[in-house]
Parts: sequence; C-alpha cells; structure tokens
Amino acid sequence: MTKQTLANDKPLMCKIVDKWEECFETFSFKLQLPVKVQGAKPGQFIMLWIPGEDEYPVGIAGLENNILEVGIARMGEGTEAMHRKEVGDFVGIRGFYGKPFTPPEDVNHLLIGGGFGVVPLKMLIETLMKSEKKQDIHVFEGARTKNRLMYLKWLQELHDQGEITFHVCTDDGSFGYQGFPTVALEEFLQKTKTPSVIYAAGPERMMKFIFDLGKKYPKVIDMQMSLAGRYMRCGFGACANCAVDPTGWRICVDGPIFNTEKLEKISDFGVYERLDTGEKKKL
Ligand SMILES: Cc1cc2nc3c(=O)[nH]c(=O)nc-3n(C[C@H](O)[C@H](O)[C@H](O)COP(=O)(O)OP(=O)(O)OC[C@H]3O[C@@H](n4cnc5c(N)ncnc54)[C@H](O)[C@@H]3O)c2cc1C
Ligand code: FES
Repeated sequence: MTKQTLANDKPLMCKIVDKWEECFETFSFKLQLPVKVQGAKPGQFIMLWIPGEDEYPVGIAGLENNILEVGIARMGEGTEAMHRKEVGDFVGIRGFYGKPFTPPEDVNHLLIGGGFGVVPLKMLIETLMKSEKKQDIHVFEGARTKNRLMYLKWLQELHDQGEITFHVCTDDGSFGYQGFPTVALEEFLQKTKTPSVIYAAGPERMMKFIFDLGKKYPKVIDMQMSLAGRYMRCGFGACANCAVDPTGWRICVDGPIFNTEKLEKISDFGVYERLDTGEKKKL
C-alpha cells in the first residue's frame, strides 16, 4: 500500500490498541491508523474527536508502524471522556497540523517541559536519537511531585543507557532535584561552553521565563517553543480563535512551534491568552 501524508480535515476513525496510566491523572493511548501514513513531525498536533463528547487538540508522542501515541492529562469533561475509553474503542483524529520543531546539527539539544508539554518532547527525543549527527541531548523535566512526572521510567532508562542526560526536578523534592527545572537549566547554561538550542513546551509563563533566561546566554543560538496551551477551535487556520497580537499569527498553522526570531515579535507571548470567546485575558 502506498504511504500517504495524513492531512485530512475530516476525522479519520482509529482503534485504540493500547492504553496505560502514564502518571497521575494522565493516560497514554496507542491508536491504530486505518491507512498507512507518514509525515508526522515532532511538535505537530492532531485534533482528537471523541464521538458524542468533544474535540480538542493534543500533541503527538510518537508514530511508528502506523500506530500513533498520545498522552492525555485530565483537565475537564473532554479529557475525562478520553480516559473512559478502552482498548477496542474508536476515536477520530484530524491532522497532522502545525509547524514542527526544526533541530539544527552540531549543537547541544536542551529540552525542557512540564505537564502535557512533555508529550511532543518525547517524539523530539526519539527523532534526535535517530539523527546521524547525534549531539548531547539534555532533558529537563519538572512536576509538582514524583507521581506527576511523565515518561519517568522511559527517560531514566535512556539516561542509564547514555542516550540522554536527564535532569529531573520536583517542587516537593520527592524525586530528583528539588526545585524548578528552570533553575537546573540555568545551572547547566552557566557551565556549558557548547552552542545550544533550547526546546520548551509547557505552561506559557514558564516558557516566557525560559525565553528571557536563554537570551542572557550568547551560546543559546536559538529557542524553539510550543505555544500549545492556546485555545484552538478548528486547528487548521479557519477560525482565528488562536490568533496572537500584534502579528495575527494563528498558532495552529503558523505555530505551535515558534523560534526566537518569531517569539520576539509576539507581544502576547507569556502575557495574554485568548479565551474560547475570543476575548483576551492576562495569563
Ligand atoms: C496544540 C495543542 C496541543 C495539546 N496537546 C496536549 C497533549 O498532548 N495532551 C494533553 O493532555 N493536552 C494537550 N493539549 C490541551 C488539551 O487540548 C486540553 O487540555 C483539552 O482541550 C481540555 O479539554 P477538557 O474538556 O478536558 O477541559 P475543559 O474543562 O474544557 O478545559 C480545561 C482547560 O483546557 C484548555 N482547553 C479546553 N479546550 C481547549 C481547546 N479546544 N484548545 C486548547 N485548549 C483547550 C483551556 O485552558 C481550559 O481552561 C493541547 C492543546 C493544544 C492547543
Ligand atoms: S484554531 Fe482555528 S485558526 Fe487556529
């Protein structure tokens, strides 16, 4: 069968073939795609449709042999509806949408995330590990407490195998470094001499903090951040619900990944969000 790039604006029904509890109030699912597809890139997202319940954007944790992995954190009714789904049930997906991360070669890769932000970073880690010109990969993950750390076992194994350096942090000190991952990142930036790129995904105020921090270090040659906390309705550029000021960029098509040059131009970044009504609200 010829492989095709999934770029459909109508939901494609997929069977859930695996489900497990990833961490506190978060489940991972593997979805069997009904047609052979290729082309999902780290940082892109899908619109997940739970028939009769809700549709919302989620990141892509992986795509291999036509099996798509997603990780869903409980927020409200829509994510709870997905948590009730079991192996054998069907859900719909639209996508793959948005601009991906674009890692350059010959740099240190510094990935930092929290909450469901770690979902797209998982696929980025897998891509970087397969790259021929493999450079150092440092992963900084933070959570309130140990049972909220996503992909903990997998990341620890990669660390033990020497594939990545895992800097794990919890606010309460129940695992790893006690404190925020931003502090661990800054300590690392003070020591490293290698040109580095920061990739961040998580709460937008955290990313703004990282952005301001990264700008102080000339060895940080680029920052690529996922503005995936933004409210999205259509996911493919039609409704403008995800537009940011003053550029008018729609996060779903012009992002969700933006580099340093573009982030500099978004005055809303880390300051205002847009509600489902279209109104702006201070973060
Ligand atoms: C590009 C992108 C990628 C995302 N990736 C993931 C992921 O990999 N895993 C994950 O668990 N979550 C992800 N999210 C967030 C996820 O879409 C929301 O948590 C989900 O929509 C909440 O729905 P709910 O009905 O459970 O909660 P609700 O009670 O409806 O809302 C709770 C909060 O979720 C957010 N939210 C609600 N609807 C939307 C929407 N349509 N678009 C964006 N945010 C919304 C709002 O901040 C809201 O305050 C992503 C969001 C975006 C924009
Ligand atoms: S969600 Fe409709 S334009 Fe982005």
